[in-house]
Amino acid sequence: MAPKHQAPRGTRDLLPGEIERWQWAEDRARGVLERYGYREIRTPLFEDYELFARTSGESSDVVQKEMYRFKDLGGRDLALRPEGTASVCRAYLEHGLGGRGRIHRLWYLGPMFRYGRPQKGRFRQFWQIGAEILGTGAPGADVEMIALFVDLFAAWGFGELAVLVNSVGTPDSRRAYGDALREWFGPVRPWLSPDSQRRLETNPLRVLDSKDARDMLIWSVGPGAWLADEEEDAFKLAVTRTYSKPKPHLLDFLDSNSSAHWDAVLAGLSALGIATEIDHGLVRGLDYYTRTAFEVHDRSLGAQSALGGGGRYDGLVETLGGPPTPGVGFSIGLDRVLLALEQRGTPLPAGPAAVFVAAMEGTRAEAAALVRRLRRVLAADWDMEERGFGAQMKAAGKSGARLLLIVGEEEWERGDVVLKDVGDGSQRPVPVATLEDVLLEALGTRPTETRAR
Ligand code: HAM
Repeated sequence: MAPKHQAPRGTRDLLPGEIERWQWAEDRARGVLERYGYREIRTPLFEDYELFARTSGESSDVVQKEMYRFKDLGGRDLALRPEGTASVCRAYLEHGLGGRGRIHRLWYLGPMFRYGRPQKGRFRQFWQIGAEILGTGAPGADVEMIALFVDLFAAWGFGELAVLVNSVGTPDSRRAYGDALREWFGPVRPWLSPDSQRRLETNPLRVLDSKDARDMLIWSVGPGAWLADEEEDAFKLAVTRTYSKPKPHLLDFLDSNSSAHWDAVLAGLSALGIATEIDHGLVRGLDYYTRTAFEVHDRSLGAQSALGGGGRYDGLVETLGGPPTPGVGFSIGLDRVLLALEQRGTPLPAGPAAVFVAAMEGTRAEAAALVRRLRRVLAADWDMEERGFGAQMKAAGKSGARLLLIVGEEEWERGDVVLKDVGDGSQRPVPVATLEDVLLEALGTRPTETRAR
């Protein structure tokens, strides 16, 4: 019989067995972020709807189609956060962080919510790890951000990912580029999806970000092999006419400051040996970006291939009513990272108990107290059902413990317990007084590492 309740569509439970890989990935990421000098920030899972509408952009998919918007019992217009950057900037302003130091390096980890059609790598509740630098417009900040981005992937064992980069300039350069796009798409316009036709008027850059299959083919592939025979001749002709003019590139529309910024970022990345590819179609799906934009993809994930992305957003804090405060950052989709790691067969770090404590009839209470004592420094397990010795041995086998402690009545009287090495079967009495030292030495590990393998 199917259970009465299931996790809501597009959400899932992360169960023991799977969660260990998440914890491992999060731990690795924390280490990298700490060494880079970023400090954690936690913001609410829901905010005023207006915060996201104003920053992500009214014409973005996130606002138009994917927002979990709701009214609370007090009639407030709220939304589950679809992303973290707007919340970080809101918190930065609300708590006057700008007055407490010029540059702030922040990171966050948590669930985000977008009402998309669930598919491989796309969930309605998904996890992001993100980082932001607020307070400097220097190209060095973009370079550090991208280096951090790449180093996080490296810490998870992705060696071969190239970073796609572009510059989305300023609102002025985007306006000029938008006009060029409108003209370029002219011949093929009737064949664009209804959404893209509308956006060609309101926000032409969004057309490049369309997830509609035909829109994507028109922009990324062009005339040629992809044109199925059954395509109408008029459509083929329109695409051919569109492509008779060169595709406009945003980089050609940058003002001189943005252009110098772009050159400095590329030079900085190249000095660090970071592999990048310029992607002229990379415009990002949110409206707050200025200048540098970047993404990393893993094609093996199929349609939802973006593992992470980010960029500069120099106007965002001002949009929220704050003083001019440049910013740059990224977020990485942890669900997709974990999916990619699983597909690569990255071994799962297991966390079995290091030591199993078995009791005799007369030492139940002593064994229970001993387990509690050992758990202050290492992973220990026991049979809380107080079963016979045979059942305890089976439980010890299942626990994966490398060492077995047998709390025998006579040995306990003498101040000893029997230590058995599960691997080679050897056993010896060891004094209870110095047990922790003996166990840690036998495990060949320091206390905090005992759970790792
Ligand atoms: P974003 O590109 O919208 O950027 O999302 C970042 C990453 O979140 C994506 O590359 C993807 O891996 C993951 N992601 C997005 N939607 C889903 C979904 N429905 N299911 C699973 N994973 C998903 C941002 O969110 C910006 N806040 C990044 C940023 C920070 N820009 C500047 N600072």
